[in-house]
Amino acid sequence: AAPTSFYEAVGGEETFVRLVRRFYEGVAADPLLRPLYPEEDLGPAEERLRLFLMQYWGGPRTYSENRGHPRLRMRHFPFRIGTAERDRWLAHMRAAVDELELAPHLDQQLWQYLVYAAHSMVNTADEA
Ligand code: HEM
Repeated sequence: AAPTSFYEAVGGEETFVRLVRRFYEGVAADPLLRPLYPEEDLGPAEERLRLFLMQYWGGPRTYSENRGHPRLRMRHFPFRIGTAERDRWLAHMRAAVDELELAPHLDQQLWQYLVYAAHSMVNTADEA
């Protein structure tokens, strides 16, 4: 049998829909993060993050068909991301991952990546 991707192991598209929807509910209500998002409607941002994560974990490549190479660090340069923004982002993501109730080894793999990725997106030094 073909090896199962992480994408399939966690339940495919439905799981990523739930993850990212829950995450953006948190962002929508967050006074630090919400102003960073340029669009009034968070729907398109939600779709981009969902498609990116699906692709990253071995699902359909729709993200790159629509957006090209991810270049995520570069795409985040317009937004001031310090450690406070990173930690808020991770807090909403942690709540969203918790709601998936994944098997511990899958939860761990997903979380490790998100923490690593969020740390790499910081582009602004904290003020003294
Ligand atoms: C886009 C904020 C971390 C993936 C964005 C946008 C903002 C933002 C404001 C623009 C919304 C839009 O798409 O219109 C942040 C903040 C982070 C963070 C404050 C804190 C560390 C991450 C991480 C990932 C990620 C860790 C990936 C694991 C994406 C993707 C897009 C995006 C895929 C859409 C890129 C595109 O195709 O244009 N982010 N982000 N972000 N972010 Fe983040």
